[in-house]
Amino acid sequence: MVVNYKELGLVNTRDLFKKAMAGKYAIPAFNFNNMEQMQAIVQACVETQSPVILQISKGARQYANQTLLRYMAQGAVEYAKELGVNVPIVLHLDHGDSFELCKSCIEYGFSSVMIDGSHLPYEENIKLTAKVVEYAHQYDVTVEGELGVLAGVEDEVSAEHHTYTRPEEVQDFLQHTGVDSLAISIGTSHGANKFKPEQCQRNADGVLIPPPLRFDILEAIEKLIPGFPIVLHGSSSVPQDLVAIINKYGGAMKDAIGIPEEQLRRAATSAVCKINIDSDGRIAMTAAVREVLANKPAEFDPRKYLGPARDGLKQLYMHKIVNVLGSDHKI
Ligand code: G3H
Ligand code: 13P
Ligand code: ZN
Repeated sequence: MVVNYKELGLVNTRDLFKKAMAGKYAIPAFNFNNMEQMQAIVQACVETQSPVILQISKGARQYANQTLLRYMAQGAVEYAKELGVNVPIVLHLDHGDSFELCKSCIEYGFSSVMIDGSHLPYEENIKLTAKVVEYAHQYDVTVEGELGVLAGVEDEVSAEHHTYTRPEEVQDFLQHTGVDSLAISIGTSHGANKFKPEQCQRNADGVLIPPPLRFDILEAIEKLIPGFPIVLHGSSSVPQDLVAIINKYGGAMKDAIGIPEEQLRRAATSAVCKINIDSDGRIAMTAAVREVLANKPAEFDPRKYLGPARDGLKQLYMHKIVNVLGSDHKI
């Protein structure tokens, strides 16, 4: 089955990033694996009039089935229209780890792919990324590459420490690969435990404040490649009120610490045009499900706990769009 994303009503990232750069905001890239997440994303984007990048990881594709996902993305476009707003929707592969996976996603209607060669030696990263770009551009599919390694787990690859992006490599990487956007490492990481408590300071209210992102590296990169779209992975803030609900109702999320929202707000006004958020959505859903099941132990209708989970998720996404990324009313 080969389908071009344009037939599904999807768009690539090119124009969205151009507008985001000029308007000093970032496009939300929300991961999804199931219907409730997709509904929450579309509802939030319709209400706030925000463009969106629907992100699917290799694991999500294995979990949900590639064919179903392709129809869900097409469904997302139609659902938004039914709700009255023609939301620009990108279907993006998150952390593609091979040429074959990227090619397969393009054949299944993705409008954008990430090829993550960040764990490879520099020359191999270039070779793999350039191969994906050459293939993707034939179909007007945009490509995100990555330089620098985030600490933590990215699909099946994990690294204990950050390797910050080296600004001196970015021009050469762009020249030799032809990527449309670049993910960089400036201190974010994946998951809900981005910092150890001992790395953080306590403010007057006893709240743990993590070390700031390396805006100096971001600024050095911006100077070298002015106007080029930058992507920030690992951008969940791990809302402490939601973590408290999870732990109150039987959860055990220990030392969960994210990126403060003010820092992401600052990043969104820079060349950062795409901000990736997955863990916060997982936390919002889990908090709502745990609360319902703890308060109503006799409940066994999934709609009674997945419905509130979807509502919680929608609120979280609306908050991110309006107060953190600034992508509302940018359709
Ligand atoms: O970067 C990782 C994303 O949060 C996707 O996570 O591989 O568990 O679907 P996943
Ligand atoms: P978080 O784990 O911080 O949500 O990051 C998600 C991400 O970068 C997906 O690629
Ligand atoms: Zn990521």
